[in-house]
Amino acid sequence: RMQLEEIRALVTEDLQRVDQTIVQRLASDIVLVNRVSQYIIGAGGKRLRPLSVVLAARACGHRGQKHVPAAAIIEFIHTATLLHDDVVDGSDLRRGRNTANQVFGNEASVLVGDYLYSRSFQMMVELGDLRIQEVMANATNTIAEGEVLQLMNAHDPETTEQRYLEVIYRKTAKLFEAGAQMAAIVSGSPREIEQSMVDYGRHLGTAFQLVDDVLDYKATAEELGKNLGDDLAEGKPTLPVIYALAHAPAAEAARLREAIETGGIDDLDQITRLIETSGGLEYTARMARREKELAVEALGRLQASKYRDALVTLADFAVARTY
Ligand code: IPE
Ligand code: IPE
Ligand code: MG
Ligand code: MG
Repeated sequence: RMQLEEIRALVTEDLQRVDQTIVQRLASDIVLVNRVSQYIIGAGGKRLRPLSVVLAARACGHRGQKHVPAAAIIEFIHTATLLHDDVVDGSDLRRGRNTANQVFGNEASVLVGDYLYSRSFQMMVELGDLRIQEVMANATNTIAEGEVLQLMNAHDPETTEQRYLEVIYRKTAKLFEAGAQMAAIVSGSPREIEQSMVDYGRHLGTAFQLVDDVLDYKATAEELGKNLGDDLAEGKPTLPVIYALAHAPAAEAARLREAIETGGIDDLDQITRLIETSGGLEYTARMARREKELAVEALGRLQASKYRDALVTLADFAVARTY
């Protein structure tokens, strides 16, 4: 965790402004909006996306303050998707707390998710840059498609690696990509630098989600702040499972197949062992490390700076993390 603290220390003031913006812009006249939004935002989370936006802007040589609302916008969208996601996934632990849907109900979670979503668009309009609005409109649309595509894959053991990669690009990597791109745009960077940031964000986000899918079988709930086995319970064919289905001995593959079809986690321990033994977790972790290398490569065109170094450290964290 030290490493992450070091790079946060580089941009302490920026991050404080981001937090201030988040708190200020959360506020509503409607009591329940405040209660639900403060509940989930107050739980913190890693805040990796706003950190990546701030560092990316600084690495692009930005001297102004527009990256602050940009970072808050990304965190609002992220938080909105989490409120919706926990309803869709039927999850009951998030950020070490009961999920908002557990505490306030599905209705309040969905509606306050919409509130955060639309607030982020109000803030984008305030930035007064049509290209930013274009990037973010496209990104949020792609995220929604990713979630629906994932829904179509649920309980389907025939899901291919390619289809899985399409899902994680859309549902997760796209937001990292859009955040890094927005950072380049507010910095007034030339197009090739903007493209470098797009590539960085895409690979970082892909690595991040690959690791997330490993952690769903490998972490501890205390550290992760989420319950393990959620993916299997939802019948979600993530890469560790896809790999295991193709490489486990026939009898075991058949059990795994059934677990995906029924979403049964009664024998989560056995299924986890099976995935581990087949090499599914290692395969996924290896792909995450490759994506991290590509993220680092994408930074090659940027001028050397401590902020660029910090983006490398952030990518290292994304794959080394245990929470
Ligand atoms: C959770 O993201 C959703 C995924 C894309 C896996 P984070 O792990 O960044 O969530 P918080 O914000 O730190 O809680
Ligand atoms: C999180 O996805 C939501 C989005 C990426 C839009 P997941 O369902 O995979 O993540 P967790 O495990 O609940 O955080
Ligand atoms: Mg989920
Ligand atoms: Mg989900």
